[in-house]
Amino acid sequence: MSRRFLFVLGSARAEGNTELLARRAAEQLPDEVEQRWIDLSEQPLPDFEDLRHDSDHVRPSSDTPLGLLLDATLAATDIVIASPVYWYSVSAQTKRFLDHWSGWLRIPGLDFKARMAGRTLWGVAALADEELSVADPYAGTLRNSAAYLEMRFGGVLLGSGSKPGDVLNDTGALTRAKTFFAEEAPLARFPHETAHAA
Ligand SMILES: Cc1cc2nc3c(=O)[nH]c(=O)nc-3n(C[C@H](O)[C@H](O)[C@H](O)COP(=O)(O)O)c2cc1C
Repeated sequence: MSRRFLFVLGSARAEGNTELLARRAAEQLPDEVEQRWIDLSEQPLPDFEDLRHDSDHVRPSSDTPLGLLLDATLAATDIVIASPVYWYSVSAQTKRFLDHWSGWLRIPGLDFKARMAGRTLWGVAALADEELSVADPYAGTLRNSAAYLEMRFGGVLLGSGSKPGDVLNDTGALTRAKTFFAEEAPLARFPHETAHAA
């Protein structure tokens, strides 16, 4: 099956380190792999309203930012969350996008969960810290979300940098970017599911 990558940019500034790193990784994708890039700051999503236990969620119209994101998500085989690390997790824009997935799970006839199963979630992130393990909560958010939806998880490509362009000095990140999307993406598992596997 031909792959279609959706890159969801979640920074609060344009052309920042996260996008630079994501574009370096995306350059390595074969030509036949489709790429679509959506910047959440250009498609501002409404606050998520939790109607799950009151009424059905309605499918958003395709001419709204939310409908555009839903259509693009459903069309992708691979979803790349390209959010900087903000307070050790994803940005608010990105989190709002993920919150809307909870509404999409409740749209009658959409079968969002079944349709996401088997697709692959990836993360790309810049952070100011040089100690990459501080981004463990970020990686955990994406890994657990993928596990909940029975998706594959390709991990998170991390690069260090504070001001825009800094990440291009992180030679380790640039090296990892070259092979990131070529790595195997196993079915995501919650930590408690793998704790006893070793
Ligand atoms: C609101 C906010 C929160 C941040 N939180 C963290 C953090 O928890 N850890 C960290 O190392 N860097 C943090 N940073 C620094 C950014 O991750 C860093 O500047 C990164 O390069 C921004 O990515 P961008 O250029 O793609 O926007 C934060 C920056 C902002 C604006």
